[in-house]
Amino acid sequence: MKTIKFKNGDQAHAIGLGTWKATGETVKQAVKDAVNAGYRHIDTAAVYQNENEIGEALQEIFAEGNVKREDLFITSKLWNDAHASEDVLPALSESLDKLQLDYLDLYLIHWPVAFQKGIGFPSKPEDYRSLNEVPLITTWQEMEKAHAKGLTRHIGVSNFSQKKLEDLNSKAEIIPEVNQVELHPLLQQNALKEYCDKNGIILTAYSPLGSGDRPDAMKADNEPNLFDIPTIGQIAEKHGISPAQVLIGWHAARGSSAIPKSTNPVHMRSNLEAAEIALDKTDMADIAALDKHFRFIDGKFFEMPGSGYQNIYDE
Ligand SMILES: NC(=O)c1ccc[n+]([C@@H]2O[C@H](COP(=O)([O-])OP(=O)(O)OC[C@H]3O[C@@H](n4cnc5c(N)ncnc54)[C@H](OP(=O)(O)O)[C@@H]3O)[C@@H](O)[C@H]2O)c1
Repeated sequence: MKTIKFKNGDQAHAIGLGTWKATGETVKQAVKDAVNAGYRHIDTAAVYQNENEIGEALQEIFAEGNVKREDLFITSKLWNDAHASEDVLPALSESLDKLQLDYLDLYLIHWPVAFQKGIGFPSKPEDYRSLNEVPLITTWQEMEKAHAKGLTRHIGVSNFSQKKLEDLNSKAEIIPEVNQVELHPLLQQNALKEYCDKNGIILTAYSPLGSGDRPDAMKADNEPNLFDIPTIGQIAEKHGISPAQVLIGWHAARGSSAIPKSTNPVHMRSNLEAAEIALDKTDMADIAALDKHFRFIDGKFFEMPGSGYQNIYDE
């Protein structure tokens, strides 16, 4: 299995299991199926409201005795309502309690956006807090403390532009080790990838398959379907693999990590196997030509008029 490597020598599988939108018994079963299928990297977040069930699944997995805590790489994320200094460590402790773990492998600031305490999704401008009031570096310093206390082996960010990373890096003691962002052939983010590669920041691809199961309210009319792109289909046919495997294999070939979500064991297995697919130079050039800077997760849901947030991706 291809791996991602951290500066301290730690490694994780390049392909992990995404769990957004999977809840209750479904996510519990999905995590058990995934680990049985060979997954060792699981991505969750406080806001996914599935940490309890993932924790239960992990306990059952550990009780079976074949897979130990240290064999797994577990990521969770700080929600936007817990950016204030006094809220970061308690939020991490809550995630650890739910997951029934002593430490995370990776803890991420989920979005460069701050809400008032207790706000899941804002309904009015007053639900937001500005980044002047709660600067990202203040939140980050608490992430550094969490790392120093051993509550998480690695710390990183998500949905950060190069501009936000540069600003944070100029003030941080520990440079974020990971930036988890939307990434796929229609959104290749070459400049961000180059910056991350240069600075030893691992880029992790979310929504690598186009996030077709997210709520309709988050979808644009006539949005593209990654599985239907003719070039992807032709490459799949050429190698005798599925379009999903081309989409996932592309990240492994590019040296990034990807966390496709699935609750279907057949999909999970083929997604994991995609890490080993050898796309050739022609395939990579054909996929490179598909970039349209198209976002499925456009972030506009955090740009409510009066909230003070605009252009959160700085582009
Ligand atoms: N940091 C962030 O802000 C952020 C944002 C979005 C996502 N994420 C993370 O990234 C993960 C993945 O992104 P996502 O959930 O948005 O979407 P995604 O992984 O791009 O797509 C998930 C969809 O693809 C389907 N699928 C999976 N494997 C397939 C296969 N081999 N063939 C056909 N269909 C397949 C899934 O259905 P089945 O379940 O039926 O297989 C599901 O409908 C999330 O779950 C989450 O962990 C993070």
